[in-house]
Amino acid sequence: MNEKTLIKGKIHYVGVNDRQKHLFEGMWPLPLGVSYNSYLIDDDIVALVDTVDACYFEIFLHKIRTIIGQRPIQYLIINHMEPDHSGSISLIKHYYPDIVIVGNRQTFGMIDGYYGVTGERYEVKEGDFLDLGHHKLRFYLTPMVHWPETMMTLDETEGVLFSGDAFGCFGTLDGGFLDTRINTDRYWDEMIRYYSNIVGKYGNPVQKAMAKLDNLPITTVCSTHGPVWTADIPRVHDVYARLSRYEAQEGVVIVYGSMYGHTEQMAETIAAELSHEGIRNIVMHNVSKSHPSYILRDIFKYRGLIIGSPTYCNQIYPEVESLLDKILLREVKGRYLGLFGSFTWAGAAVKRMGEFAEKSKFELVGDSVEMKQSMTPLTFEQCEHLARQMAARLKKDRK
Ligand code: FEO
Repeated sequence: MNEKTLIKGKIHYVGVNDRQKHLFEGMWPLPLGVSYNSYLIDDDIVALVDTVDACYFEIFLHKIRTIIGQRPIQYLIINHMEPDHSGSISLIKHYYPDIVIVGNRQTFGMIDGYYGVTGERYEVKEGDFLDLGHHKLRFYLTPMVHWPETMMTLDETEGVLFSGDAFGCFGTLDGGFLDTRINTDRYWDEMIRYYSNIVGKYGNPVQKAMAKLDNLPITTVCSTHGPVWTADIPRVHDVYARLSRYEAQEGVVIVYGSMYGHTEQMAETIAAELSHEGIRNIVMHNVSKSHPSYILRDIFKYRGLIIGSPTYCNQIYPEVESLLDKILLREVKGRYLGLFGSFTWAGAAVKRMGEFAEKSKFELVGDSVEMKQSMTPLTFEQCEHLARQMAARLKKDRK
């Protein structure tokens, strides 16, 4: 029976699926749910790697006991302290009072603050080692992937990397957890959305962590969210490498606010001309309908970004403004930016979006367009001109 949970050697999957929560971190929609992954190493010495959201503790404990029965767990390795993974620490400690918690200095500061659990601890530093019998574990500190205490644990015997949030994605694990036993199609876009929404700000730390892993003999990646990766490791690595470098493919995200459809007509005109110019990847988002989670995903995917906003109370349309803040927060780099907007009696949005252009350090492309009230032949021409300038800038990179 335990074969169903077995990953490799004596390592078992004991994570859980959350199909109840609507918003991850209270902000990010979960249409496909999310898994909280934990791993049990049923070796001479038993170790548990991370826990799960406290709501799922009963299921979690049952999974553990199905594998080890009444045997004790000697070590609880905490790779990441965000409560979706650390939430069951107090309960684990209650059921396994002699368990030794393994973490780094930063981990223990957070454990004290969140849970106040006491007892024996093993504070690890970069490269420290733990021998469980068959499995030999080594610890790598990978701060800011995604919190300062984050670390990764490598089982050197079988090449199994417990990577924390790195290489994770949204989406529950329906039936199987190994990439070789499930259809992984639904995870790839959710990986980009997970990365851009949750880890997006930390491109440099992700790069540093990946450099550390470069020469390690990794056969299996056990992240805290999503499938256990084996055959697809090169693809997963490539997705994270490109996203952390803010690398994007040719294409344009046109994102706009529009109260009565006039600014939307500008967006439609720009999109049609981009298509006419041979740009195939065009994604349009009305900020009043698309959740920012998906807009951010597409901004991480494509190099071109054209933003449109009506003037609202002498400011940028609030929903657009909120999106601009989210882009700046993630320190997205290397996008080509076009701007357009509208007003009824006094224009302000385009000028204020110019301040965003400066802060973001994006390359401002073309002539920004500002429309008074509704489309005129001149506005059509200006919008088409902006689209042609963006298409030309993107095509320059083809050479
Ligand atoms: Fe899934 Fe940063 O925790």
